[in-house]
Amino acid sequence: MTKIRKAVLPVAGLGTRVLPATKAIPKEMMPVVDRPALQYVVDEARDAGIEHFVFVTGRNKGAIEDYFDRAYELENTLRDKKKLEILDKLTAELPMAGSTSFVRQQSPMGLGHAIWCARDVIGDEPFAILLPDVLVKCPRRSCLAQMVDAYDKVGGNIIAVDEVPMERVSSYGVIAPKTAGDTGQLVEMKGMVEKPPQAEAPSNLKITGRYILQPRIMELLKDQAAGAGGEIQLTDAMARLMGEQSFHAFKYNGQDYDCGSKYGYFEAVMAYAVDHPEIADQARALVKAKGAEL
Ligand code: G1P
Repeated sequence: MTKIRKAVLPVAGLGTRVLPATKAIPKEMMPVVDRPALQYVVDEARDAGIEHFVFVTGRNKGAIEDYFDRAYELENTLRDKKKLEILDKLTAELPMAGSTSFVRQQSPMGLGHAIWCARDVIGDEPFAILLPDVLVKCPRRSCLAQMVDAYDKVGGNIIAVDEVPMERVSSYGVIAPKTAGDTGQLVEMKGMVEKPPQAEAPSNLKITGRYILQPRIMELLKDQAAGAGGEIQLTDAMARLMGEQSFHAFKYNGQDYDCGSKYGYFEAVMAYAVDHPEIADQARALVKAKGAEL
């Protein structure tokens, strides 16, 4: 089985659901406790063995490139002030030289188009996609790492799915399992559809924003017609790929948070704060006290 070495992280989106916070900073840089949301996603990918990160960026996303670079003035100041522990942490998290690529999506034509923009860097090997809006907090192995384990067994294409209340299916890509009510962790599929009206949704299993795909998807994306919302949808190209290659949906062990929305972001900050090594006790006490007060 070809190892999954590269991941595409589309970071060109405008973050309109959390304006004005995202007016001057990329939504991916919004802090969840003390780290940008994007750092959690990069860590998840690293945990899964990803060696090269391809960021699909857009206008006003320069802060992301700077974040993954050295910050000489800051580092020198920390060194002068003997804040060496903080300095070590900061530099340890930097990606290895040459392990990041940045490609530009010039117009917001949809997720499928964003992924296609990474085609030359991906080349002819299977790869992962992580949508950085979504943080997935897992008890042990990261969501993508769990998917790589599954991929090592069955190969082909794998997408992460989770159950969602039927009234919310129209916000997501939704899969049609081959066998209705399949309770396995790896689910065989017969279809998928992007943002279906509730009455037309084939199940309540939504696509979570983590994918392992074969490079053939890039050829299909090249001529993919616009779909839901007038955008080139990854889900539509995957539905075509399913006609040619093996495809599984994977029910991961973890909880996902949609940081692109106000409430999802709030949930994420709470979830990570109550487990943060430095503030867990205080955060838990606060949540309990607030809960009693409300
Ligand atoms: C995208 C995908 C969708 C998926 C969702 C997960 O939609 O197109 O299939 O369910 O991410 O968050 P978006 O939220 O970018 O509209």
